[in-house]
Amino acid sequence: MYENKDLLRDASAVLKQNVAGRYTMPSPPLYPHQWLWDSCFIAIGLRHISLPRAKSELTSLLRGQWQNGMLPNLIFKSGAKYRADRRAWHSRINPYSPDRVATSGITQPPMLAEAVVRVGETMTTIERREWYRHMWPALLAYHEWLYLDRDPHSEGLVLQIHPWEVGLDSTPPWTAELREHQLPLWIRAIESAHASWLINLLRRDTRTVPSKERFDAIEVLALFSIQRRLKRKAYITSKILNHSLFTIEDLTFNCILIRANEHLEAIAKTIRRAVPAELTEAMQRSREALESLWDPYASSYYSRDFVTHKLIKVPSIAALMPLYSGAISPERAAILVKSLENEHVFGPAYPVPSVPVDSKDFDANRYWQGPTWLNTNWLIIDGLRRYGYNDHADALTESSLELVQKGGFAEYFNPLSGDPLGADNFSWTAALTIDLLKSKH
Ligand code: GLC
Repeated sequence: MYENKDLLRDASAVLKQNVAGRYTMPSPPLYPHQWLWDSCFIAIGLRHISLPRAKSELTSLLRGQWQNGMLPNLIFKSGAKYRADRRAWHSRINPYSPDRVATSGITQPPMLAEAVVRVGETMTTIERREWYRHMWPALLAYHEWLYLDRDPHSEGLVLQIHPWEVGLDSTPPWTAELREHQLPLWIRAIESAHASWLINLLRRDTRTVPSKERFDAIEVLALFSIQRRLKRKAYITSKILNHSLFTIEDLTFNCILIRANEHLEAIAKTIRRAVPAELTEAMQRSREALESLWDPYASSYYSRDFVTHKLIKVPSIAALMPLYSGAISPERAAILVKSLENEHVFGPAYPVPSVPVDSKDFDANRYWQGPTWLNTNWLIIDGLRRYGYNDHADALTESSLELVQKGGFAEYFNPLSGDPLGADNFSWTAALTIDLLKSKH
């Protein structure tokens, strides 16, 4: 068991060891490139140990911004070693992609406004205004793009075109849809020939992490095949929508957006900028639209299929994200908190599992299908405080810190035993440990 002082020292060492110029790699052997929401969580930790690094973690994200405002989920590392990764995306086929860096063609949850505000909190008022002024144009363009491009019917909910956009890559609501609509014939053939082992031989991720802790092979192929389809449409959303069977208004993504909108408005107020009227209206629509994701029968929020408008009633940690959005009633919040208190749902020994324990999809060791992650805990802790559940927030802070005290800065953890899983020395685990330690009440 660690003392908190040692934990802080070791978490800082991880962030130092994973640095790559202006940004921090999530995990050098497994994820060497710059990821959008990783950098946001990393900056939230870095602000306590190095303000210049926290700022550059976020400003370096802007290198990848597309001319239409999109922030890509990935900015690739340069160098011959990574040529295949860059080629797989070939983002240059889209006219809006940047000239100087290679990026992916999809986004990730809009955590940037939150990170900008959190980093700003550690500055003097004058510095903060300067910082906000610097980040404002990119942030505004990003939020405008989210609505213009991803909410084509002005519903208030933005859509996602790949599970990687949600950040919870193998979360059951998405894998369920994937299996229902998307598996091309060649993947089904591999599945029925029981030839997944062949795919596992070719995978890079399972060289560093045991395969029982990662995606199953068929899901890997399915994700790869969607990405190829997106590339064929040059990452142009309108073209993708004409052909896609697979578009979701994801609950986690939209909750993060609702919260980010609030931050955007606060930033605008601080630097006396006007938020364009259309955007203000869109933001208001989002707050209201969240209610359309509530299912009164299951007493739960769910993601929704963009085309059919049907709720995807597959349980996952997304159900708790409305707490973080801040846009639900105290009565609804109380229902969500109950599920956190129940050890058979979201309250096992080391919460919060990415899939409720009583779900048929729960797998304590596999990626986003059961394990506990520090970033989702951080979002839930914030939401709990917002609704006045400080004791719950304190308890979740303690159990999160206990996980890293026992198991180190793992990518994720078994929610029943607390065992560390996935990559070691994972940057957002280290960064959010620092933030949780520094923000203890
Ligand atoms: C995995 C996670 C995703 C994260 C990325 C880099 O793909 O599912 O959320 O951004 O790794 O750490």
